[in-house]
Amino acid sequence: MIFDSHAHHDDQAFDHDREDLLSSLAAQGVGTVVNVGASLEGTKRTVELCKAYPFVYGAAGVHPDEVGSLDESSFAWLKEQCQKEKIVAVGETGLDYYWDEPDRGIQKKWFERQLQLAREVKLPVIIHSREAAKDTLDIMKAAHGEELGGVVHCFSYTKEIAKEYLDMDYYFGIGGVVTFQNGKKLKEVVEYLPIEKILLETDSPYLAPVPYRGKRNSSLYIPLIAEEIAKIKGMDYDEVVRVTEGNAKSLFGIGE
Ligand code: NI
Repeated sequence: MIFDSHAHHDDQAFDHDREDLLSSLAAQGVGTVVNVGASLEGTKRTVELCKAYPFVYGAAGVHPDEVGSLDESSFAWLKEQCQKEKIVAVGETGLDYYWDEPDRGIQKKWFERQLQLAREVKLPVIIHSREAAKDTLDIMKAAHGEELGGVVHCFSYTKEIAKEYLDMDYYFGIGGVVTFQNGKKLKEVVEYLPIEKILLETDSPYLAPVPYRGKRNSSLYIPLIAEEIAKIKGMDYDEVVRVTEGNAKSLFGIGE
């Protein structure tokens, strides 16, 4: 069944129909979802979703846009969440220079701290990196990211940068952007990557695939992403689903 490796079903965009939506996923072929914490509050709600739904796992972390809210005491709380049942990764964490807020120094500090946290709690990392390719790689290398393992979610860089992460044995989260008409660069990266290093993701409620672009995304749309990857790689849809599910379960240590 389909594994959605990156969703934010805790988002308020789902407040009116979360229960119905999540309950309908299995019938639509979606077997597992990793709900990713993007803030302290999001991590708290992620832990609750993990308790409520057997097929939901979670990641505990604070997105670069939100790290201004962190201090030593909230960071200690974050570490406690990492040790809870069904929390399978630290993230999302990284650098986002698109908004450039908070300032780069603060983003870097908390990115390094979350990588260090992943090492302490022995979990892989979910990386968010936007318009910050070089600084992200520099920090990952300095922190020996290759020893942590993880996924670069919503991968948006070139084949050359992809090669750097392949050398560190990372996975690549591929989502709705691959279906966009202006998604040529990502289609090339998908063509280049071995299917064994690809994870399916939605980033719900963001980045809905075509023909729902601009609408609220949910895990229900993930077959459109698997179909596009199958087309690009000349593979069967079922094979894409099967291999990417195995990849995600292996990275997050689920079902072993
Ligand atoms: Ni996300």
